[in-house]
Amino acid sequence: MNERQPSQTALGAAGYRAAHQVLEGGKVFSDPLARTILGDGADAIIAGLSAGPAQQRTRFFIATRSRFAEDCLGAAVSRGVRQAVVLGAGFDTFALRNPYSELGLRVFEVDHAATQAWKRRRLSEVGLAIPASLTFAAVDFESDDLGRGLRDAEFNPDHPAFFIWLGVVPYLERAAIAATLRYIASIPGSEVVFDYSEPLENYPPERRDEVAALAARTAEVGEPWLSHFDPAEIDRELRGFGFADIEDLRVSEMALHYLGIPAGGPSGPGPHVIRAGTQ
Ligand SMILES: C[S@@+](CC[C@H](N)C(=O)[O-])C[C@H]1O[C@@H](n2cnc3c(N)ncnc32)[C@H](O)[C@@H]1O
Repeated sequence: MNERQPSQTALGAAGYRAAHQVLEGGKVFSDPLARTILGDGADAIIAGLSAGPAQQRTRFFIATRSRFAEDCLGAAVSRGVRQAVVLGAGFDTFALRNPYSELGLRVFEVDHAATQAWKRRRLSEVGLAIPASLTFAAVDFESDDLGRGLRDAEFNPDHPAFFIWLGVVPYLERAAIAATLRYIASIPGSEVVFDYSEPLENYPPERRDEVAALAARTAEVGEPWLSHFDPAEIDRELRGFGFADIEDLRVSEMALHYLGIPAGGPSGPGPHVIRAGTQ
């Protein structure tokens, strides 16, 4: 992506979460700040993400991946974890809602400097205060040392941490993904939730046009998809980095889990959400 301009896909993901609040009442993922953080343009953004079954599927996927990540984070906090890191945070609002701040959960938001500066300006414009439990770290996964960026922000790599890394892996080169996962696995008692997509050739021919159109749209805004994984391949890589406890969920499994019904869309290859822990 172009590091001099804020991420357009971050605005898109935030728009889908806001649309989910308005159109589905936040049924899967309740985020009372999702609309607020969009500012004055909220209604237009939501209206643009409301048409047709493909947008409904994307709304559903984006809502469930956040719900799953925050459910897993809640479980980690119950086990005593007190550091959460939101990697490529974009306009994610968890750090602003942090329901565990009284328990001492510190949240670190990592993102490109341009996107982070944009978010901070937006928070001030819409009157959302930055909580004392939140610290920002500007890091480029492709060229910076994540560990150093987090240490500079007073993250403690000797204490367990929970990482949320949503909607970012497809936009990175393989080397940056491997370096980030290796770093997470080096932290004792760490856990991560992230999503990835399968390569286009895994899809049946009749579904490739829809996926290719989505990829073309992100490329048009300067954020092309750079990395895809086969499920067996990502499992092998994660184990190689030291993750032992791995759960890989397809969108259809998320639908069953959170709605008790099929997603209403195809159940074959597609986006996946992974939870991976080192213990
Ligand atoms: C699709 S957005 C997802 C944002 C957020 N996680 C969400 O789910 O709403 C992708 C995010 O990854 C960040 N990102 C992409 N490439 C990056 C890089 N090389 N270094 C740091 N952040 C990056 C963008 O700035 C943006 O915030």
